[in-house]
Amino acid sequence: MDRKKLIQAAIDGLPRSYAPYSHFHVSAALLCGDGTVFTGNNIENASYTPSVCAERCAFFKAVSEGRRDFAAIAICGGPDGVIKDYCTPCGVCRQVMREFCNPSTFRILVAKSAEDYREYTLEQLLPDSFGPDDLEK
Ligand code: THU
Repeated sequence: MDRKKLIQAAIDGLPRSYAPYSHFHVSAALLCGDGTVFTGNNIENASYTPSVCAERCAFFKAVSEGRRDFAAIAICGGPDGVIKDYCTPCGVCRQVMREFCNPSTFRILVAKSAEDYREYTLEQLLPDSFGPDDLEK
């Protein structure tokens, strides 16, 4: 996996964030098992609740195009699109990742730049999670 390339795809997508209410711009790049990358950005709404995060945008684009196998996601963001800190995924997005990803192998890269990032497994950010397999128990 080329981590820098994946992070750069997220950074490149940051201007596409639509965040006129929070002014907090977020972008994500989701790497599929076959090497394909789907980007996503947060898209807010005047009615607030229909807003979607960058990570879920990327996942829904990929899943709606038939993908089910994911290796990693890179995330970046900040106020007015200026990256000041690591932007970790919200709880709802972590749960959406849990639906499609192996918690022990799926990688989450939160980046300040292509060189400065933190790497987690989904399991680290969502321990003791509930997923599709739990419905079978
Ligand atoms: N946001 C994301 O897109 N991803 C995250 O991981 C954190 C939050 C968005 C949602 C909202 O549009 C804005 O950032 C402020 O919460």
